[in-house]
Amino acid sequence: MNRVYIKTYGCQMNERDSEQVASSLRDRGYSVVDNEFDADVVLLNTCSVRDQAEQKAIGKAGYLAKRKRSDPNFMIGVLGCMAQNRGSELMDRLPDLDLIVGTQKFHAVPDHLDHLIKSYSAQGPRPATVLDIDEEEGSQNAIKDHLPKQDQVSAFVSIMQGCNMNCAFCIVPKTRGRERARPMEQIVEEVHELAEQGVKEVTLLGQIVTSYGRRDFPVVDGKSPFVQLIERINDIDGIERIRFTSPHPRGFKQDLVEAYRDVPKLCEYVHLPLQAGCNKTLRAMNRPYTKERFREIVDSLRAVVPDMYFSTDIIVGFPGETEEDFSESAAFFEDIGFDMSYIFKYSIRTGTPAETMLDQISTEEKERRNHVLLDILAKRSLWRNEQLVGTVQEILVEGPAKKGDKFVGKTRGYRNSIFDGDERLIGQLVQMKVNRATASTIYGDLVLAGVDTI
Ligand code: SAH
Ligand code: F3S
Repeated sequence: MNRVYIKTYGCQMNERDSEQVASSLRDRGYSVVDNEFDADVVLLNTCSVRDQAEQKAIGKAGYLAKRKRSDPNFMIGVLGCMAQNRGSELMDRLPDLDLIVGTQKFHAVPDHLDHLIKSYSAQGPRPATVLDIDEEEGSQNAIKDHLPKQDQVSAFVSIMQGCNMNCAFCIVPKTRGRERARPMEQIVEEVHELAEQGVKEVTLLGQIVTSYGRRDFPVVDGKSPFVQLIERINDIDGIERIRFTSPHPRGFKQDLVEAYRDVPKLCEYVHLPLQAGCNKTLRAMNRPYTKERFREIVDSLRAVVPDMYFSTDIIVGFPGETEEDFSESAAFFEDIGFDMSYIFKYSIRTGTPAETMLDQISTEEKERRNHVLLDILAKRSLWRNEQLVGTVQEILVEGPAKKGDKFVGKTRGYRNSIFDGDERLIGQLVQMKVNRATASTIYGDLVLAGVDTI
């Protein structure tokens, strides 16, 4: 009864939370397995950002419930955002669940499982479903442990939880709560340990990382706590690259723009969520900037780093988005020239301000708009990658490719790169001469100080 499989839906924050749960379960003597059929306990760490993500997890839980009927000791848990969002409603809908744990209670999972296993072993009546979705002060500090991994090059580090914004479409403030930052010292120490274990790249995570510590730590020399944290991590030996996700356009003040110029390990790649490229839609979404301001941020970043790479999140079919609004948004999206983008079809979320907005857009129309943006993106990413053909790029080698005998890594601009490599190069920075590009990947040969190698 002690083999656990964790299935994760959604964003990198969820991946990180799952790793924490896995680590705490291992410390408690559980074994964390990598497939559900070998497990006595399956935990679904869920996402609520769109209805589809919730439906997927509900479908999976329903499927697992069938197994429970033939194997009554098999246990099912739902963790994370959907547990927080739907709580007791889930108990009614999925009576076979053993465990429902919210986003501030991940650390309690081992205790709950211990309790459930004891009850099951006592062979009495089936124990009651455990529902633990309260808020807990300091819960942001619990996401700190990493599973030991062989040849780990890159790691995620959670720096804060929650979001105080009120974007009309977004369920995150409800599922993740108010903004809470981890102490800077603890984060720096965690990155030190990762560096000692050989990690070369860290990605700082939070729902709105640019707000990191703004009420806990003072601005020093005009630098926000977030920029101070980036500088502290830049000083850590062994770390070669720093990334973060997700920031908010509002957080791009001069100090952060200058960090791209002054902090050598901060990579030239920024995920800058746009959501809409039309001021009327931005206002309706309650996003506190105009497209002109967004353009200014992009220009100021390109002024300090001319070959900056931009990624974004954009939503099509927000309620009231007319054909004209969308065309304006699409034109702006094209004009900025995003190298990567997550394009979302608007999904109604219960309890958000947009839930009751009139003029919902049809599924077919959202689909069409989605394709318009996907086409723009595909053209731009291909063009951008083609610009690299013939150049030499610095690649951080991650490991063997999934298929074939090639190796994979990334440029500082987060371009997926494929080349002939060698196990010994994992975790190294190498130079690759690019000889071919697709929209998603660049291909090339490693070179050493201008001389072909390997
Ligand atoms: N800053 C946050 C954003 C969370 S949601 C973070 O990364 O943690 C991620 C993205 O999902 C948003 O930027 C938005 O583009 C999209 N999204 C959020 N709510 C949505 C909804 N109701 N329908 C469609 N897309 C949505
Ligand atoms: Fe969501 Fe807006 Fe915050 S997208 S996570 S409410 S900045």
